Amino acid sequence: MKLAILSRAPRAYSTQRLRTAALERGHQVKVLNTLRFGIDLSGDAPDLQFRGRPLSHYDAVLPRIGNSITYYGTAVVRQFEQMDVYTPNTANGIANSRDKLRATQILSRHGVAMPPTTFVRDRGDVIPAIESVGGAPVVIKLLEGTQGIGVILAPSMKVAEAIIETLQSTKQNVLIQSYIKESRGRDIRALVVGDRVVAAMRRSAKGDEFRSNVHRGGSVEAVELSEEFQATAVRSAQIMGLKVAGVDMLESETGPLVMEVNSSPGLEGIESATKLDVAGAIIDYVDNQVAFPQIDVRERLAVSTGYGVAELVVHGDPSIVGKTLGDSGLRERDITVLTLHRGTRVIPNPGARHVLEADDRLLCWGKLEEMRGMIPARPKRRSRVKKLPKNPILEP
Ligand SMILES: Nc1ncnc2c1ncn2[C@@H]1O[C@H](COP(=O)(O)OP(=O)(O)O)[C@@H](O)[C@H]1O
Ligand SMILES: [Mg+2]
Repeated sequence: MKLAILSRAPRAYSTQRLRTAALERGHQVKVLNTLRFGIDLSGDAPDLQFRGRPLSHYDAVLPRIGNSITYYGTAVVRQFEQMDVYTPNTANGIANSRDKLRATQILSRHGVAMPPTTFVRDRGDVIPAIESVGGAPVVIKLLEGTQGIGVILAPSMKVAEAIIETLQSTKQNVLIQSYIKESRGRDIRALVVGDRVVAAMRRSAKGDEFRSNVHRGGSVEAVELSEEFQATAVRSAQIMGLKVAGVDMLESETGPLVMEVNSSPGLEGIESATKLDVAGAIIDYVDNQVAFPQIDVRERLAVSTGYGVAELVVHGDPSIVGKTLGDSGLRERDITVLTLHRGTRVIPNPGARHVLEADDRLLCWGKLEEMRGMIPARPKRRSRVKKLPKNPILEP
């Protein structure tokens, strides 16, 4: 394959290792500076320029987008996606993982265990927010911090309040997070490639520091992860839309707690700790997936007027419980079942012989009008836009 590594640091260990691993496997590879791309929107098809000249054809792109250029970097990645060039990490995935609040919102929607976290804006809400995550000591995080910078442990309520007020006065948004003290300055970094953990390490903070980041002096050692930690890491990366990711987890009394999912994980620490060829695993994975460029399903499907995606819960329709999918009548109503969810299990592309159980959830693609009848307690008709009332604002 012909691969482009998007990076502004051609000499960095991770970039060099990825480049070497690609060359060793007989691929063509170029390291291209993300900021030297021009996004060409003038022609009939999406295109890219590099250093002012049309970019030649690439089969795949491996983005290593630094924190300081998220906006431009993700725009370049998105353009590659529009050109059907394979990327393991989508622009959306990178942008979502970059913002700690957004990532937490997405992961919590899918029931991934995380340290209790809140986000408030008003001064008056700060103390109740700290109390709601268990009180001091409490961890305060800047939304876009990295390498441990912008992560503070506040020992008392008073200090926490002062820190939050100071940061907010400089227009910084912060997360308030419960301090998981049993982790004792240690955390787990799992490197996910595709749907498996290819390498994992435990990081331990230096001295009385609580942040275990290598950039904060943390030391690393290889670890063998339990099934639970592996499954949590893979699921978190999948939910974020990242096929190459570094998932950070705390070892709590109740099991793994996900702190963040990194879209450009560094390779030096993990390769030296585990002595595993992580770069090679990434290149092999990309090579394997080149035929499947990322398609924004939502965007592509949105142009079929009258059709859409909906989740149907089987207990909403007792007439289909106990029937097979084939006999459920869904197909006849122009509804295709994409996935069947039973508890935490997912059955992709379920066949006609699957017997439906109460509480099954079906992710369906079909005629919206047909599906509407199966989603109870929703208004039936599109209501007309009404006239502005005489008194548009109620008196206090
Ligand atoms: N809630 C927490 N409880 C205990 N330790 C934490 C908590 N959050 C972060 N840490 C420690 O601080 C480090 C940095 O936090 P993280 O959220 O990963 O920020 P960064 O993006 O800067 O790496 C973690 O690797 C972990 O060691
Ligand atoms: Mg981290």
